[in-house]
Amino acid sequence: MKSSRFFAILISFFLTLHLSVTWATANNPSHKGFLECLESHSEPSNPISAVLYTPANSSYSAVLQSYIRNLRFNESVTPKPQLILTALHLSHIQGAITCGKIHGLQMKIRSGGHDYEGASYVSDVPFFILDMFNFRSIDISIENETAWVQAGAILGEVYYRIAEKSNVHGFPAGVCPTVGVGGHFGGGGYGNMMRKYGLSVDNIIDAQIIDVNGRILDRASMGEDLFWAITGGGGSSFGVVLAYKIKLVRVSSTVTVFRVARTYEENLTNIVYSYQQVADKLPEEIFIRMTLDVVDSGVRTGEKTNRATFWTLFLGDSEKLLSLVIETFPDLGLRRSDCIEMSWIESVLFWTNYTAGTPVNVLLSRVPQVLTHLKRKSDYLKTPIPKQGLEFIFKRMIELEPVMLTFNPYGGRMAEIQPSEKPFPHRAGNLAKLQYATNWDEDGVQAAEKYLNLTRELYACMTPFVSKLPREAFFNYRDHDLGINYNGRNSYLDGAVYGIKYFKENFNRLVKIKTKLDPDNFFRNEQSIPLLNLCPLENEFVIGNDLINHMFGDV
Ligand SMILES: Cc1cc2nc3c(=O)[nH]c(=O)nc-3n(C[C@H](O)[C@H](O)[C@H](O)COP(=O)(O)OP(=O)(O)OC[C@H]3O[C@@H](n4cnc5c(N)ncnc54)[C@H](O)[C@@H]3O)c2cc1C
Ligand SMILES: *[C@@H]1O[C@H](CO)[C@@H](O)[C@H](O)[C@H]1NC(C)=O
Ligand SMILES: *[C@@H]1O[C@H](CO)[C@@H](O)[C@H](O)[C@H]1NC(C)=O
Ligand SMILES: *[C@@H]1O[C@H](CO)[C@@H](O)[C@H](O)[C@H]1NC(C)=O
Ligand SMILES: *[C@@H]1O[C@H](CO)[C@@H](O)[C@H](O)[C@H]1NC(C)=O
Ligand SMILES: *[C@@H]1O[C@H](CO)[C@@H](O)[C@H](O)[C@H]1NC(C)=O
Ligand SMILES: *[C@@H]1O[C@H](CO)[C@@H](O)[C@H](O)[C@H]1NC(C)=O
Repeated sequence: MKSSRFFAILISFFLTLHLSVTWATANNPSHKGFLECLESHSEPSNPISAVLYTPANSSYSAVLQSYIRNLRFNESVTPKPQLILTALHLSHIQGAITCGKIHGLQMKIRSGGHDYEGASYVSDVPFFILDMFNFRSIDISIENETAWVQAGAILGEVYYRIAEKSNVHGFPAGVCPTVGVGGHFGGGGYGNMMRKYGLSVDNIIDAQIIDVNGRILDRASMGEDLFWAITGGGGSSFGVVLAYKIKLVRVSSTVTVFRVARTYEENLTNIVYSYQQVADKLPEEIFIRMTLDVVDSGVRTGEKTNRATFWTLFLGDSEKLLSLVIETFPDLGLRRSDCIEMSWIESVLFWTNYTAGTPVNVLLSRVPQVLTHLKRKSDYLKTPIPKQGLEFIFKRMIELEPVMLTFNPYGGRMAEIQPSEKPFPHRAGNLAKLQYATNWDEDGVQAAEKYLNLTRELYACMTPFVSKLPREAFFNYRDHDLGINYNGRNSYLDGAVYGIKYFKENFNRLVKIKTKLDPDNFFRNEQSIPLLNLCPLENEFVIGNDLINHMFGDV
């Protein structure tokens, strides 16, 4: 009974929605008028012309490409911005918001450019880029164990600047040092200290943002709703984040790492099965990431085999790590010689695969070690995959090479934080987050389609083993396969399709905050938080949480 009422209401949603979705494209942007508007809002002491790049500027392409981190969106067919604004001053950002609103031009905010779908520099409607890389100061107080970090800083700079001042402090954030603070913290941010300290957003204590009216706000003046929203719900639906204030965490002066690999012939099924029994239950100082891939078997040419690589960080010494792993995870066959002691900052280099002895100031480089075309997807694992299931996955992975599958274990601190504490909802009850990763070198849409297909096929194979209703996903692993709001339109239902996978029950609170603070939906993109823009009856229905209850409930 309940579901038939639900479907009837769903259908009525679709009918009324299609009548009201064309408004967003009604404003035809005028390039020239937009430029004039920016000039007229420019302060004489901080001229905006110095930071404006149109396709006519000789350095336009270089500026655009300098923060493209997925070569899939570095093609001639990739839609290009009408203008790039490399803001140097707050008035440039305020001007961009004011003129973007007047001219109905979509604004894409880019900090580090690592978005997996290019959401910060690609659009299917006319747009411009507000590039934040000049806003990258880092101000650390070891005395107070805090730091103000601007959005355009990269994680490597944050880690380096902390380590410069203290060898017993660190920050829990991503593994790749060139990822930008703006997108990473806004969307949650996790790394190899997640089991001990939670996500980046669990350690953010203040923020600065420019809102849709050009006001510069901090936590006290923005209020707890907006602060909550931009610590996990993605900054780009709510404003331009200028900076976050973080709480530093303690790390031991000596940490231990290891990386060991096992192939199918080395008892892989049993090892991977055991891994799933222990990885989320180990002491929270241990983080063991497992990546499954396919390699040459080394027996006959062309013959392939499965491999798992275990990357580990332990906040402690090698003696303790070795005895812990031998006791709890004997199948791995860890040896003393696998374990390497180092400082926390050296472990950052180890984890991003720099060779031993690389100087730590390589973390200040804003250019990634490698750039490829890529696709990523995510899943949440709630129960161990049975051995038979593993055998099936291994077989499929050989057929679907080069798709890789990485397990990031949960438990520890992650299981203690309430799902409503931050927009990121995936807490207790998860064994691991999975990432599907496919990299390729060939240019062109044809090649991209082939590798996208392979990635989607492995994702389809995993359906029986992962979370359902909803099939959960990690917002920082942006995946447009989960649904998008086309042409910058604002459909609540389209938004709910991806929004509930990313945010579960928290989606509704994000929608309410969005509707209140940005009622004209200026801050929008393909997967932004939609407005409640339905007819009054439906609004009441949605606000009453019924839709969410139905989506989780009696299906
Ligand atoms: C090589 C690589 C490794 C990664 N490793 C990890 C990892 O270990 N852990 C993890 O959690 N994630 C990881 N990610 C994902 C990463 O966290 C997200 O892609 C993140 O959004 C990137 O932030 P960015 O500033 O570099 O990206 P951008 O592409 O600049 O931005 C991403 C999104 O945030 C918005 N945004 C950016 N800056 C602002 C701002 N100042 N105000 C408002 N909105 C803004 C953009 O508009 C866009 O929607 C990785 C990604 C890559 C490519
Ligand atoms: C780009 O070209 C425009 C128009 O010619 C000019 O006003 C602007 O200063 C140029 N930008 C830069 C950064 O040189
Ligand atoms: C991006 O594309 C441009 C234009 O084709 C090319 O010159 C550049 O080398 C590409 N960038 C990378 C990192 O391959
Ligand atoms: C530490 O915090 C105190 C109290 O808030 C403040 O007065 C002081 O300036 C801070 N120290 C630094 C180095 O920021
Ligand atoms: C393989 O793993 C099983 C179960 O974990 C174990 O009993 C067995 O001894 C292992 N075999 C080898 C050759 O290591
Ligand atoms: C790490 O670097 C080595 C070479 O130094 C390379 O063979 C390997 O593929 C790299 N691994 C990853 C995961 O990037
Ligand atoms: C990708 O998959 C689609 C849908 O299954 C199919 O039509 C298409 O031919 C595939 N493309 C490639 C390049 O494999």
